[in-house]
Amino acid sequence: MRSDPHSAIGVFDSGVGGLTVVRALMERLPFEHIVYFGDTARVPYGVKSVETIAHYTQQIAQFLLEKNVKVLIIACNTMAAVAAQTVRDAAPVPVLDVIEAGAQAAVQVSISAQIGVIGTPATVNSNAYARAIHAQLRDARVYSQACPLFVPLVEEGWLEHEVTRLTAQEYLRPVIAEGVDTLVLGCTHYPLIKPLLHSVMGKGVRLVDSAEAMAQKTAELLAAQGLLNPSLNQPDYDYYVTDVPVKFQTIGERFLGRSLNDVHVVKW
Ligand code: DGL
Repeated sequence: MRSDPHSAIGVFDSGVGGLTVVRALMERLPFEHIVYFGDTARVPYGVKSVETIAHYTQQIAQFLLEKNVKVLIIACNTMAAVAAQTVRDAAPVPVLDVIEAGAQAAVQVSISAQIGVIGTPATVNSNAYARAIHAQLRDARVYSQACPLFVPLVEEGWLEHEVTRLTAQEYLRPVIAEGVDTLVLGCTHYPLIKPLLHSVMGKGVRLVDSAEAMAQKTAELLAAQGLLNPSLNQPDYDYYVTDVPVKFQTIGERFLGRSLNDVHVVKW
């Protein structure tokens, strides 16, 4: 069955971090309806087992498919690393994921083909970025580094904090030593500390924000498949979460860069 161009784009993440992708989509595709799902009750995924992450991922994809979305976007790098193929195999609509988009953007901007990737332990252990980059550029050298403390630091709002800077210096030292010219921000939360990461990595290193790359890839897919919403009216934005933590509104608005309304709580 062909998807309806008037339907929404379904975006999902383990929590609030995927709103960085929603924000990029709103800017790139201002007439598209968006349904967002954030599994705020079970976040973080990045330190969970592959089986658990895969099970949660399928559950969320099914939820969004029942909302008749025209395309599914796996905004969470951890879910994409572990379960993108499972979602693709089961979905009757196109499925895009941040790893594909981030890897493609990294290959386009890197001149030396020495590429660094930072992400959660699950993402780094899966080697999904290295595989995606090598599939496009066989000779690339990929250096991956897990940065588990970045997610809680961003959730705490310590975007410019000295503790975050020291943590970044510690995590990134081996990546800098490898002389990479490109660093992929392989986690939904990292675009929020982009200025800090930039100053730690140094001017010569390009940072690939997978949220922006994702929005570009989505625009290309919708155009190619005739799925762009023909309506020029203000679109609907709906947010589904599995819990509303105390700081949800503040953090969500910081990720989104605008006020967060229409938040529905799903009880599983
Ligand atoms: N959304 C996750 C990612 O992009 C980060 C948060 C988590 O660990 O669940 O990898």
